[in-house]
Amino acid sequence: MKIMVINGANLNFLGIREKNIYGKKGFKDVVEYIKYEANKIDVTADCRQSNIEGEIINFIQEAYLNNYDGIVINPGAYTHYSYAIMDAIKSVEMPVIEVHISNVHKREEFRHTSVTVAACSGQIVGLGIYGYVLALMAVKNIKEQ
Ligand code: DQA
Repeated sequence: MKIMVINGANLNFLGIREKNIYGKKGFKDVVEYIKYEANKIDVTADCRQSNIEGEIINFIQEAYLNNYDGIVINPGAYTHYSYAIMDAIKSVEMPVIEVHISNVHKREEFRHTSVTVAACSGQIVGLGIYGYVLALMAVKNIKEQ
């Protein structure tokens, strides 16, 4: 099973940005962790990252056109206002799980709203990078139903 894991704005700065919120692990190590855990459940995680909204949309379309089994996506701050990413997720008929490393509901008010989650199958919030693993399991579970 092949799942695209898309990380959006500023997530390449994991390990550098607000370590008290997002942890000490650098982005490269996070990608390694996701791939390692994916492998254990017979999933190939194709990990992508972009700070550019349009590129994230291109990734979503690519996953669809290349018959991926699903998408795990952390759009970063785009979560809170990108109708374009929401539309892209709506366009593809496949399981899409949204992940947030931090508990956005404990944080500033603007982070409490996700415009993208309405287009997703579900959302995992506040469990650190383990959330990506749970999201992969969730995609797999939906596919196997
Ligand atoms: C985030 C939460 C967003 O509010 C923030 O803009 C991010 C990361 C998270 O993973 O907790 O960049 O998506």
